[in-house]
Amino acid sequence: MSIQIPRGTQDILPGQVEKWQYIEQKARALCNNYQYKEIRTPIFEQTELFLRGVGDTTDIVQKEMYTFEDRGGRSLTLRPEGTAAVVRSYIENKMYGDPNQPIKLFYMGPMFRYERPQAGRYRQFVQFGVEALGSQDPAIDAEVISLAMKLYESLGLKNIQLVINSLGDKESRLAHREALINHFQPRIGEFCSDCQKRLEKNPLRILDCKKDRDHELMATAPSILDYLNEESKRYFDKVQEYLTLLNIPFTVDSTLVRGLDYYNHTAFEIMSNAEGFGAITTLCGGGRYNGLVEEIGGPETPGIGFALSIERLLAALEAEGIELPVEETIDCYIVTLGDKAKDYAVKLLSDLRAEGISAEKDYMDRKMKAQFKAADRMKAQFVAILGEDELEKEVINVKQMATGEQEEVSLSQLIPYIKQRTS
Ligand code: HAM
Repeated sequence: MSIQIPRGTQDILPGQVEKWQYIEQKARALCNNYQYKEIRTPIFEQTELFLRGVGDTTDIVQKEMYTFEDRGGRSLTLRPEGTAAVVRSYIENKMYGDPNQPIKLFYMGPMFRYERPQAGRYRQFVQFGVEALGSQDPAIDAEVISLAMKLYESLGLKNIQLVINSLGDKESRLAHREALINHFQPRIGEFCSDCQKRLEKNPLRILDCKKDRDHELMATAPSILDYLNEESKRYFDKVQEYLTLLNIPFTVDSTLVRGLDYYNHTAFEIMSNAEGFGAITTLCGGGRYNGLVEEIGGPETPGIGFALSIERLLAALEAEGIELPVEETIDCYIVTLGDKAKDYAVKLLSDLRAEGISAEKDYMDRKMKAQFKAADRMKAQFVAILGEDELEKEVINVKQMATGEQEEVSLSQLIPYIKQRTS
């Protein structure tokens, strides 16, 4: 059998990759605008980091990690998400001691989860994420959310919806946890084996179960919002106030719990409402994780962030019929006739490129007509035509493809001629 690409992964080929680059550039520019700095962490980490960071009751840790032993007998895991690694690096590099607080970081890169592949769900996918560490100000929650919304808006998406919830602080969560246990315990036998395990370890995750989502006890489960203490309530109100101030529409959904263990206070997701968008509608997820830095061995530090995948963003753009402005063109294509001109073009091409002009020539021994076709396919703005006669006279014929206009230009003037008309 021939060798094929692994399930749940994809090749991003020329023609498609320009869209990725466009989105990546937008995200980078936005982060610069909001003053989030790039961080690059390894693709693999000690497995222990994710057990502690992501949480051992999560689907990610229980079923989805690519974990392997290296030749030195260490257990390593391909990162399933970015937050735990950023927090590890934050602690290891003592960023909490930096006078510039909060520490605002972003990352972009592949993540790995052994999930069942389907539309919008891959085993290797690229997340763009941001994390703000060190601030407990609800305004930073609003800033982080607004950055994600801005990216979608700036790419032209219209059918997106922000959903927020509060998971409260420790005290609120404990009160809610008890209420959940009391609610589900008498009939836990009717739930899946995962939920039965979750009951004691993390009953909140029961609300996120896909198998039991239609069980009648789900709809009547106690809402976290009824268990928020004063401080948590005030915090959540303030986040909403800031979102309103920033003109960001949102809905509150008390059943939004997120699939990772580290959240408290603000939790949010951004969904696509576009018609024809697949079953998985979540484009982006994030929230506050005030206990995570301590959990991984650092000082008590609040944090908030989000991550979104470029794959789902592209799917949303497609569902809304949005074409990104990524048409590739080149400045100049050199068409030659005869061996002398062909040789001369080697140096001419190099000179054009050295001046920052994007240029190409034929390498396939094509006839003139086929060279013109190649220039067309590359969407060349100018075609410079060189034959033996021209070479003798030290001129070249330059055709502007958009207008069809053709001019004879002195060879020594070709570079300024093209430069003037393409910049
Ligand atoms: P998450 O909800 O697990 O959160 O993932 C965030 C986003 O990654 C999802 O909304 C989706 O866009 C994308 N995503 C997840 N799994 C896949 C997949 N298999 N295929 C394609 N896209 C996928 C986190 O990862 C948290 N670290 C977010 C965060 C950052 N919270 C605080 N800071």
